[in-house]
Amino acid sequence: MALQDHPNAARATFAQSGAIPPRALDRDSFWEFADRAKEATEALAGRRMEALPLLSVEAMRRVCMQYRFFTIDYIKDLALLLAKLPFGGLRSLLGQILAEELGEGDPAKAHPEVYDRFLASIGVPAEELGRRLPRNGAILEALSDELAERSPAFGVGLRGMGGECLCQTYLSVMFEHLREHPYIRAHADGIEWEFWTIHTGEVDIVHGELTRRAIDDYIREEPAALPELALGYERSITAWNRFWQNIFEECVPRRGATA
Ligand SMILES: [Fe+2]
Repeated sequence: MALQDHPNAARATFAQSGAIPPRALDRDSFWEFADRAKEATEALAGRRMEALPLLSVEAMRRVCMQYRFFTIDYIKDLALLLAKLPFGGLRSLLGQILAEELGEGDPAKAHPEVYDRFLASIGVPAEELGRRLPRNGAILEALSDELAERSPAFGVGLRGMGGECLCQTYLSVMFEHLREHPYIRAHADGIEWEFWTIHTGEVDIVHGELTRRAIDDYIREEPAALPELALGYERSITAWNRFWQNIFEECVPRRGATA
């Protein structure tokens, strides 16, 4: 399916992808659409991330550093989504995931903190950590605004589903290629791997499966939510792909766009 980059392209993308128009969606066609989108994202991630082992150490560090802003904003948006959801299985599950993101009471175990330890261990200077790409700042801020303004179902697609089901796919592909970078291979023993252990292993796979089940229950209880849910998910894919495209364009200038 086509993965559109324009923020307002969600409705058009359904038609272009051959997917069923949002109004005609049922549970089965929604999950088929979600699976196709995930496969397409995985393929795109593979094409993009295969450049990682070839980057200079500095460019590789810049690429890795930019991801930290996604983890930070994801936590804020997840909290916002929780505030909008009705009581039920999905809210409880996402509440548990949020607690884990925040370190379950231990700030040193909060995922952004864990990721920053990884960054420090690959030599990213502390003073670089605040340098978010303006274009990606705009993407993340737009996601938060849409989450606040639109329906809870749109928010589930945007952050409940996109953050938990899509992120894991991308991170697994990223990790696979990152491990092949000569610097990473040479310094493997001194690198803080905890973030990657959490996000590319069993725990995150289980999160993805539980989230999918909870969303499926949510759809059964509120079938009218399907079109908004699908649009939110598609918007999330668009934003996520643009986020990474910007990183590669700006941190690896000679490589240019890879979409
Ligand atoms: Fe996380």
